[in-house]
Amino acid sequence: MSRIFITGATGNIGIEVIRFLMESDTSNEVIAAVRDIEKSKRLFKDYDRLHFVHFDFENPATFKEATHKVDSVFLLRPPHLADVGKYFRPLIEILKEQQIKEIVFLSVQGAEKSKVIPHNKIERLIKEFSLDFIFVRPSYFMQNLTTTLLDDIKFKRQIILPSGSAKFNWIDIENIGEVCSILLSRFSEFKNREIEITGDENENFSRVVGLINESIARPIHFRNVNPLTYYHIKKKDGMGKGLILVMIMLHFLPIFQKEPKISDFYERLTGKKPTRLADFIRREKNKFEC
Ligand SMILES: NC(=O)c1ccc[n+]([C@@H]2O[C@H](COP(=O)([O-])OP(=O)(O)OC[C@H]3O[C@@H](n4cnc5c(N)ncnc54)[C@H](OP(=O)(O)O)[C@@H]3O)[C@@H](O)[C@H]2O)c1
Repeated sequence: MSRIFITGATGNIGIEVIRFLMESDTSNEVIAAVRDIEKSKRLFKDYDRLHFVHFDFENPATFKEATHKVDSVFLLRPPHLADVGKYFRPLIEILKEQQIKEIVFLSVQGAEKSKVIPHNKIERLIKEFSLDFIFVRPSYFMQNLTTTLLDDIKFKRQIILPSGSAKFNWIDIENIGEVCSILLSRFSEFKNREIEITGDENENFSRVVGLINESIARPIHFRNVNPLTYYHIKKKDGMGKGLILVMIMLHFLPIFQKEPKISDFYERLTGKKPTRLADFIRREKNKFEC
């Protein structure tokens, strides 16, 4: 039996990783590492086998006790934590000290190409400490449509982005959670590999808006804006400066890059096809209406 420690447990990916681990026939002990135990217990009320421990990336005093006797870690960088030296180095030091060797880190597709992004720095940190790892590098989440982009879709009937006709590879977080749960359970087979996981489709936002409009009553449209206009619109909407800059980087830079590569890892691992965009949109269509 292994003790598996899940960070980011209450977020998009963490919930899916825990769901797949809980639904699998495993004898492993799964521990949700969370800031608020009572709130998390309510969120995961259906999983009586799930354990909880108090853990805060922003409070290193919580690291040692939380990771005591842990065998493997699912490590996720919460989006607002960009200072790798401040938040992740002390944590990796503790993981090394606790002799925890197995780290599955949720990175991002293309992380190896840019030394400045936090995911690249965290990958290098894990290697620097000679921990065994699996880096999972997913493409663009379909669920961005039902989270960060949702207010514009619901209330302005628009997707507003500086992304022009750049194509993104779209992946369902359910597929990511499934892959991560398998990698955590079968770590030794994939040890020290960097694995891209993607969906089957590269599509731009005009096409995605077209697909959404096939499923909903009140149509939406895609409004392509330049980065400066985007900045002003989002500032007025009350979005934080840091998040606006991340959104610009994520959506504007792909205009100048090659189309994302498509990986068949999900299908090879699970024997299934990844979720298709049209199916995701049909599944989630009620969220797009206000
Ligand atoms: N969006 C994309 O298209 C995309 C693509 C590839 C990779 N990624 C990467 O995916 C990651 C985000 O994953 P996600 O969408 O699952 O994140 P998310 O939904 O924003 O969830 C963040 C999680 O981190 C926890 N958290 C935040 N601050 C914490 C702290 N100080 N201590 C402990 N836990 C804390 C939150 O817990 P609380 O409940 O306590 O808030 C929550 O469980 C990022 O690294 C991002 O770069 C995103």
